[in-house]
Amino acid sequence: METSSKILEIRDLSVHFRTPEGLVRAVNSLSLEIYEGETLGLVGESGSGKTVTALSIMGLVPSPPGRIESDRIMYRETLLTGLSETRLRKIRGKEIAMIFQEPLLSLNPVFTAGSQIVEAIVAHRPVSELQARQDMLELLRLVGIRKPAEVASRYPHQLSGGMRQRVMIAMAICAYPSILIADEPTTALDVTIASRILKLLRELQSKFKMSILLITHDFGVIAETADRVAVMYAGEIVEYAPVKNVFREPAHPYTIGLLDCVSGIQKKEGPLHTIPGYVPDLRNLPAGCNFADRCPYAVPVCRREKPCLTEIKPNVVVACHHPKITN
Ligand SMILES: Nc1ncnc2c1ncn2[C@@H]1O[C@H](COP(=O)(O)OP(=O)(O)OP(=O)(O)O)[C@@H](O)[C@H]1O
Ligand SMILES: [Mg+2]
Repeated sequence: METSSKILEIRDLSVHFRTPEGLVRAVNSLSLEIYEGETLGLVGESGSGKTVTALSIMGLVPSPPGRIESDRIMYRETLLTGLSETRLRKIRGKEIAMIFQEPLLSLNPVFTAGSQIVEAIVAHRPVSELQARQDMLELLRLVGIRKPAEVASRYPHQLSGGMRQRVMIAMAICAYPSILIADEPTTALDVTIASRILKLLRELQSKFKMSILLITHDFGVIAETADRVAVMYAGEIVEYAPVKNVFREPAHPYTIGLLDCVSGIQKKEGPLHTIPGYVPDLRNLPAGCNFADRCPYAVPVCRREKPCLTEIKPNVVVACHHPKITN
């Protein structure tokens, strides 16, 4: 990846939500970069801050209650942080597009699938309605829909989960964005359909040379699709490395635990393995490592001091006082 250039860079992003119950520290000092043409996976348990990170890139964190405390998000040469809504709107959807986690929230139930894609096309490109309609049918074909006119005339609730996801993908890529953020694009789908959707994303990526930020809680999806992966825990990245390193030699105890859960399923070893214990309360994070209470290797320093992200070998960055290092 070193040879291709950086297309997006996030430096020191923190996002906090003011709630009646206290300040929720959803994302803390997160840094990552996405290179041209790659797929970066963002993986972590529910509530680890994956969606909030994606919404920060899109400039869509609801405020209030959300607040971006400190950050620098660069898209190519443009600093997105503090950009006016008008300029951001030109980038959002056109340069950086997102498939949202909840399809029924982003597809309007009262309009047909086709008319929503047409609307998205017209919003980004100066084309006639007629041309936009032809482009819409072409896009539906491109995402593997065999009867585009028929699917275009249906309302979102009349589509199967897989079909709806294809429509969402068509809508997201209608302006041929440079970066596609896909937030749990396969979570609601059964295994076979999920696998087809991931294949479609890979095909579109190589066809249009897109970069993809793929958000998932499922390491199986990462294995199938991503080049590099950032593992998130309680709003922070704990391990950041090429996928092959993470699978062969995971270094952070949390990553090791997550991978044990996956291999437990594959080996059909009976009950699903889970990491014992709970994610810390984001309103009251511990002084030391966020994972210390669940970590089988924790020693006193882990409860006292926050571990910093450190490069333990080329391209492998881990936030742990005692990472497992294999050569
Ligand atoms: N609008 C909001 N108000 C208050 N807290 C919020 C808001 N949006 C997100 N959060 C909190 O931020 C934290 C991170 O949420 P986020 O949706 O990013 O998690 P996630 O990793 O995407 O989880 P999932 O896998 O369930 O989608 C959670 O604790 C969530 O409750
Ligand atoms: Mg989410």
